[in-house]
Amino acid sequence: MAVGATPAVEKPRVTTALPGPRSGPLLAARDRLGYAALRDPHAEVPFVMAGKRGSIIEDVDGNTFADHVSGWGATPLGATPEPVLEAVSEAHRRYGLEISNYVPSPPTVELAERLIALAPPGLTRYAPSMSGTLVVEAGVRFARRATGRPIILGFLGEYHGEGTYLTAAQSTDLSEVATGSAQFVPGLVFAPFPNRFRMPFQRGPGPFDDTLTLDYVEQWILVHQVEPEQIAGVLIEPVLTEGGIISPSPAFWERLEELRRRYGWLLILDEVQTGIGRCGTMFGAELHGLEPDLLLLGKGFAGGGQPIAAVLGTEAVLAGAEGGAGGTFAWVPAACAGALANLELVAAGGVLENVAELEAIARRELGPLVERHEQVGDVRAVGAMVGIEFVTDKRSITPAPAFHYAVHQALVRRGVLGMTQWGKWIYRLHPALNMPPELFAWSCAQVCEAVAEVAAAPPTEFSVLDR
Ligand SMILES: Cc1ncc(COP(=O)(O)O)c(C=O)c1O
Repeated sequence: MAVGATPAVEKPRVTTALPGPRSGPLLAARDRLGYAALRDPHAEVPFVMAGKRGSIIEDVDGNTFADHVSGWGATPLGATPEPVLEAVSEAHRRYGLEISNYVPSPPTVELAERLIALAPPGLTRYAPSMSGTLVVEAGVRFARRATGRPIILGFLGEYHGEGTYLTAAQSTDLSEVATGSAQFVPGLVFAPFPNRFRMPFQRGPGPFDDTLTLDYVEQWILVHQVEPEQIAGVLIEPVLTEGGIISPSPAFWERLEELRRRYGWLLILDEVQTGIGRCGTMFGAELHGLEPDLLLLGKGFAGGGQPIAAVLGTEAVLAGAEGGAGGTFAWVPAACAGALANLELVAAGGVLENVAELEAIARRELGPLVERHEQVGDVRAVGAMVGIEFVTDKRSITPAPAFHYAVHQALVRRGVLGMTQWGKWIYRLHPALNMPPELFAWSCAQVCEAVAEVAAAPPTEFSVLDR
């Protein structure tokens, strides 16, 4: 190939019925052996993976799919890049699965130094952890201890993981994660997530003023539910991710900052999904100039290596915190070595620029769907995250789950695997940060074709409460 020539990008191909003849029996065995939640009655992922190269997933029947899931965020650079793989293997061979809370090793210290150097201003300390759920729980514990206050202000529509006690109460919806727990969790108050497209007590689509949600906090929550001096901190994502790629306005963040200063509330920023390049910046905090007291990392922080998560905090919050995070598998040397290699790859240049290009392609190619189809209510893109909201009609903006589901099915048949979950009705694309723009543009073209195909014969709708 000539120097400088771009290698041809592999395009997905689906050549069998789905699931194919090899996937079918494996899926049936999974269903027979797993607990009920592992079953996939709506065939959201109708295949069994044989392997991945770059951003292409191949199934055991030889079908290939463009990967717009990225391990739900944990494989931010596609199939694990060689430097991450090498760092993980080397460290694992040398140190084994050592308990870093007790026996430190160089990879833990080196990762801490690099992470703190890259972190938003004021974050000078870290606490090690293993998953997004655990860092949210740790963040809340640290905020309560640092302030001596009990209550956390959260936002309806967020998802913060699957802990039984705290995070179960804050799921995007009352799905199976929260059922039976949410109503029994004390110590939390909620306002609706600031959303310019869809607001409670407003009919039809926005654009709405999303600071209305802070009017609700000031005029209702602080008057009728909890004294401001009882609130330890505000738990929020810089961009709502699972809830549908919603970036609050600058006015929202300014006013939240005013409230926080007035009442001494800490900012606990959940960057489990937005952190380490996903928004086109190293941290989502940079999008809005936020200076959190606590910043929570998971998913993409692992870089496709080994599971790892972290709480970052200020001196005031973490320097004196005795315990509250950790665990046997927190920051094992191989996970640290992989996370460090990933940080270097993302910081080295090229990756964040690619994310900006993916965002521009999404806006250009998918944005016009809103004008083209009555059922496309809103298309939102932030960095390497796209959310498409399907509605029955533009006046009522009633969610259209059947339409959504049919589009997903049409896309899988075309070789595009996006993110969808029964009960969470915002269709999402979550490509690797380094997905070749050509493959991403091809995928967007498939989305346009799939939406047109479903719009030509729309399915009968059902309610989002039908589970
Ligand atoms: C914003 C956010 N916080 C926390 C979590 C929980 O992370 P984990 O699945 O690693 O426990 C998730 C997972 O999707 C998430 O998106």
